[in-house]
Amino acid sequence: MKIYLKVWRQKDASAKGELVDYTMESVEGDMSFLEMLDILNEDLIAKGEIPVEFDHDCREGICGTCSLQINGRPHGPDRLITACQLHMRSFKDGDTIVIEPFRAKAFPVVKDLIVDRTSFERIQQAGGFISVNTSGQPVDANAIPIEKEFADKAFNAATCIGCGACVAACKNASAMLFTSAKVSQFALLPQGKVEAVERVQNMVRQMDLEGFGNCTNTGACEIECPKGISLENIARMNREYLSASLKG
Ligand code: SF4
Ligand code: FES
Repeated sequence: MKIYLKVWRQKDASAKGELVDYTMESVEGDMSFLEMLDILNEDLIAKGEIPVEFDHDCREGICGTCSLQINGRPHGPDRLITACQLHMRSFKDGDTIVIEPFRAKAFPVVKDLIVDRTSFERIQQAGGFISVNTSGQPVDANAIPIEKEFADKAFNAATCIGCGACVAACKNASAMLFTSAKVSQFALLPQGKVEAVERVQNMVRQMDLEGFGNCTNTGACEIECPKGISLENIARMNREYLSASLKG
């Protein structure tokens, strides 16, 4: 396939970026999207040009670092996968693909396609710890019975990989889906009850401090989330927050 790329190039956080055209000859359908970018970079290096910076680590949908906006959609056209799991067979000969970084005030561009998502880390850090003894004589995992429904929901919330697609998809750049997943994975389990009040208050406060927008229930985050994190987590976080506010 012959593929035309328009790639966002930006020297650093303060520079003005622009879309730069590249033409890729002989792209195979079995190539992953990131392998296609690897080949672009090999060509650029061979020509003495500066390669395109993009984030990646696991390349198997686990780490959440491959934050690419592909033809206006976080992680590209296919549902429930990350950009690193996308393959070129999802495109056809002669296609033009626009590749940009995730756009949000709280995700400033570092260079080219790389954004700074440490705001997410600060939200998680604000959530703090759970009071479970994990040293010496840890409690057996099966000592606290947990109904399967709640265990499953907690597990599903915990599959959030912190990629930021929910923020990039949202017209308000809201981080409610991410934050609510991180709140829910503990709120649904007895181990998470002890610090529940402080956790939700601190995480929501940090989310606001980082400059993320508010949720207006459009649901774009759920559609674009590669892990299928449900909007019901946002409803749960709102209930947790209200309950924490009433307690004190
Ligand atoms: S909720 Fe989904 S889209 Fe948002 S950070 Fe987690 S995995 Fe990514
Ligand atoms: S590189 Fe790890 S999720 Fe894409």
